[in-house]
Amino acid sequence: MAGRIPQSFLDELLDRLDIVEVVDRRVKLKKSGKNYSARCPFHEEKTPSFSVNPDKQFYYCFGCGAGGNAIGFVMDYENVDFPAAVDTLAGSLGLDVPREQTRGPGGAAPPEHTNKPLYALMEEIARYYQQQLRQHPQAQRAVDYLKQRGLTGQIAKQFDLGFAPPGWDNLLQRFGGSEAQRKLLLDAGMLVENDAGRTYDRFRDRVVFPIRDQRGRVIAFGGRVLGDDKPKYLNSPETAIFHKGRELYGLYQARQANRQLSRILVVEGYMDVIALAQHGISNATATLGTATSKTHLERIFRLCPEVLFCFDGDEAGRKAAFRALEAALPALQDGRQARFLFLPEGDDPDTAVRARGSEGFEKLLETAQPLETFLFEALSEGIDTDSLDGRARLSKQVLPYIRQLPEGVYRQLMFQELARRTGLDLQSLMQLEAPPPPATEPDTERAGQAEQDTAAEPAPRQRSPDIPVARGYSNLAQAALALLLHKPAVAQLAEIDSLALLEGDDIALLVEMLTLLQRRPESSTAMLLGHWYGTPQGELLNRLAGQERLIPTEGIERQFADTMAELALLPRKSALAAQVDKLKLTNYAQMSAEEKQQLRELLQEKQKLDAERGNRGR
Ligand code: UTP
Ligand code: MN
Repeated sequence: MAGRIPQSFLDELLDRLDIVEVVDRRVKLKKSGKNYSARCPFHEEKTPSFSVNPDKQFYYCFGCGAGGNAIGFVMDYENVDFPAAVDTLAGSLGLDVPREQTRGPGGAAPPEHTNKPLYALMEEIARYYQQQLRQHPQAQRAVDYLKQRGLTGQIAKQFDLGFAPPGWDNLLQRFGGSEAQRKLLLDAGMLVENDAGRTYDRFRDRVVFPIRDQRGRVIAFGGRVLGDDKPKYLNSPETAIFHKGRELYGLYQARQANRQLSRILVVEGYMDVIALAQHGISNATATLGTATSKTHLERIFRLCPEVLFCFDGDEAGRKAAFRALEAALPALQDGRQARFLFLPEGDDPDTAVRARGSEGFEKLLETAQPLETFLFEALSEGIDTDSLDGRARLSKQVLPYIRQLPEGVYRQLMFQELARRTGLDLQSLMQLEAPPPPATEPDTERAGQAEQDTAAEPAPRQRSPDIPVARGYSNLAQAALALLLHKPAVAQLAEIDSLALLEGDDIALLVEMLTLLQRRPESSTAMLLGHWYGTPQGELLNRLAGQERLIPTEGIERQFADTMAELALLPRKSALAAQVDKLKLTNYAQMSAEEKQQLRELLQEKQKLDAERGNRGR
């Protein structure tokens, strides 16, 4: 096995490459201002929203959110893995790619964290299960089951279906030879540990469906019983490489089958995806027994402009659809579309496509409701929209959802539609739309404010009130990250310790980036994007890097220092707010003199902190 590519080489490579050339060789670029633009190669579009920044050496698409450095571009464009992309790019410069020697036993190998062994194990297990479907003495039952469900051998092969044979220790016997290997099996979620500490195979006597990530790596399994036992399906638990809320079953196969996807279907089950594929409908994916998440939607819209949800027509199906609608709203920039199809009771896409054939099913798809129809229908339920009062109620119900939409024509049209349906004047609706004026004392007013908010807006939850929105970013940590991406050198101004009391994913990422930059101050924006490439953090960073225009051209250092200072104040502020709240629960008249004094001091300190923030660069 070849060793790792040294970081120093990657840095040098990115340094010597020009991303404009790299992209232009594959997608013709046009100069536009100081950047270059083109129609995005990663989603269908009529007007170019794909842009390449020569200064910072990264690309970004405002349409679909794709972004990264030159290596990432080649990976995505040519659908190759990291080493292959590095090889290609190094080759274009006439460079050989050096490899680090993997150290032998005894040599202190660097404690580099990697999930490689997990991926490798999952791939081997998938192959083992497939082999069992052909060879195991009891495999005929599984084969019969699949046949009885109408699957061909070809489609079973395309989705790598397998058979987890009966027995408690098949995997243990085969892949658990050493303590380290057993640990790996456990980390992979392939074993279950009972209370007594004994381990056994998770999947037994089931048909198994390998779940692949976008790049085609096996990251988890689903398993179905051959009969009517319960539970019908088992899924891998969350592991280091499998996060249910992000993955879509069948997405990899859908991308393999379609060079360019114009629409992605989201259905409920594994068997639905497979049955549709067998009937030539090769763009279906399924969430993995979880609700559709924002991440799912972002992923879909990166690939194509339309998502079509296909759910059962029953109560549960409509609920699931509404949650999908909520997740979709913030992603619905102009040009993107979400539609909903509800199947008649008792049907699912599997049975429907078998009964109607692919043409019949395609026809059904054409009857799917646009998001707005479903939204208005769902929210009008139980409201008499003929009455004046009912229409006012409807507008109150709908407004918070429209507010979740990004600025644009679609959002505007939704307002018009609401005005039409309620007979209310568009102008006054838009006024209602304006965000409530900021409270003068956000912390002490919070309890009352929250009540008001819920009365007016029952539905989507607002952002956490603890983190003030910073100049267009959803929180301070993201603002700091954006500034760092814009000018990595400012990292030297930060004291990482000042973040120690803060929690959250964005903070963790900020700390990681600061640490990296303080260790390797010469890192460029492109190197930073490369470091997190292909991870969810990477997706966030791409987006932040693409929002350059929110960043002023001057005074970055000061902005960054201010943002870090505000972050450092957050824990003290919320501790203060909590103390104040607690004291305020006591009636002022009944407070001891000491408590009154304490409250005064707390309020003073709070005012000082708030004033500090107010004074800064607004
Ligand atoms: P369904 O029960 O609708 O599955 O669950 P299905 O695909 O129609 O099942 P078949 O046709 O009887 O084989 C939809 C999805 O919900 C998850 C699975 O991901 C399944 O594909 N599920 C369902 C579970 O995780 N566990 C269960 O016990 C049932
Ligand atoms: Mn089914």
